[in-house]
Amino acid sequence: MTKIDVLLGLQWGDEGKGKIVDFLAPNYDVIARFQGGPNAGHTLEFDGGKHILHTIPSGIFHPSIKNIVGNGVIIDPVVFEKEINQLRDKGVEPTKNLFISKRTHLITPTHLLLDAVYEKSKGKAKIGSTLKGIGPAYTDKTGRNGIRVGDITSSEFMKKYERLQKQHLKIASVFDTDYEGILIHGIKLQEYEELWIKALELLKSLERIDSEYFINDCVAKGKRVLAEGAQGTLLDLDFGSYPFVTSSNTIAGGVCSGLGVPPSVIGRVFGVFKAYCTRVGCGPFPTELFDSDGEILRQKGHEFGSTTGRPRRCGWLDLPALKYSVMINGVTDLLMMKADVMNELPVIKVCTAYKTPVSDVNHLSWEVMNEKITPIYKELPGWQTSLKGIDNFSDLPSELKDYIKFIETECNVGIPLLSIGPDRKETLIKTDFISKLN
Ligand code: GDP
Ligand code: IMO
Ligand code: MG
Repeated sequence: MTKIDVLLGLQWGDEGKGKIVDFLAPNYDVIARFQGGPNAGHTLEFDGGKHILHTIPSGIFHPSIKNIVGNGVIIDPVVFEKEINQLRDKGVEPTKNLFISKRTHLITPTHLLLDAVYEKSKGKAKIGSTLKGIGPAYTDKTGRNGIRVGDITSSEFMKKYERLQKQHLKIASVFDTDYEGILIHGIKLQEYEELWIKALELLKSLERIDSEYFINDCVAKGKRVLAEGAQGTLLDLDFGSYPFVTSSNTIAGGVCSGLGVPPSVIGRVFGVFKAYCTRVGCGPFPTELFDSDGEILRQKGHEFGSTTGRPRRCGWLDLPALKYSVMINGVTDLLMMKADVMNELPVIKVCTAYKTPVSDVNHLSWEVMNEKITPIYKELPGWQTSLKGIDNFSDLPSELKDYIKFIETECNVGIPLLSIGPDRKETLIKTDFISKLN
């Protein structure tokens, strides 16, 4: 019997989860996504190529590794088909090592319509959703109206689909009398529906499984499993900056419900975080920068969304928020990303507490996410040198070593992995990190 390791984001998503899952994949037999859907965009770079995955787990480029889309994930068949075709164009045949839970819910064309209608109706208070139908699809799941991958071969499928579609159109008309003019990914609803129904055929050709049995069997047989998260802890439905969150549990707790595994099998929890912070979409962001430092982070870090292309909001590292995420997830190892993006900065600021209307606090209290607060910063000297070619921790500039040490001490968790570029190879690990895996 082995344990299931977990890799997830500790900030507002886009921390670099995809890169690290791909990097760690050779140490695992199975990679399993446990939540989220096509709102995710996980970027992998190796051998001169760049690949963005949305629903497919980031172990897919390793043919010997089984990749599972867990029950906690939601699938848009059109996006899924596109992803599969893009992989095939690159010479990867994903159908051989990809398995989908029959319990995975489907995002229908009218979920996408509702997402757009709800966002429009919110006006300035909009969430900044990726408009991939995430909120409405998870709403139907919890409302017990959803349709699932296991349903697609049932003779009742189209009846269920049409019933749901009718309900959605009724709701849409209440929110927006002009809903018929809303385009879905740039095309009319009817056209998207045609693509959607056609794309179900691809889903039917893939292996659909009872993934809870599959994964628990793997664990019982001593196979090594890595659970891959999407989004980040501060976008979690319960613990994120609600209502500016996604509609699933992005935290370690989500692994149990999203894959059907008991808490006792969870092993290490890898918390991925950027050396600074970014956020795409709306909602509170205490350390957000509106000055030239913010622009440097955006430009040097290519901080533009992998899924929507939107510019990401950038800011300094927020330690109380990071510590909160470490606590919520039980992080055993911190993995720090994109240190190279800060190479030029003479001074690095880190938020260590917040001034609230009542007092200074050094934790992520309700007030921090819901009232006007000002961050309190500690300043550290920047390293102002390139990290290119460095391949071990001991060769890092002393200022970066100090920055890492400071975060480790504050969070009381070690940082055994540092990423200094987007490529798989631009990854530094402490000597015993891999040998300790499973
Ligand atoms: P994910 O959603 O957590 O998988 O992250 P994304 O792929 O959305 O965003 C991370 C972006 O940063 C991608 O464009 C990666 O290629 C890139 N990236 C990852 N690690 C590093 C790094 O250490 N340095 C730099 N400069 N870019 C990185
Ligand atoms: P990965 O897995 C960054 C954000 C959206 C929006 C909010 C709700 O690549 O880290 P939704 O479409 O879920 O209704 O949007 O969540 N968001 C992400 N931000 N990375 C992601 O995924 C995200 N998925 C959703 O921008 O603010
Ligand atoms: Mg992303």
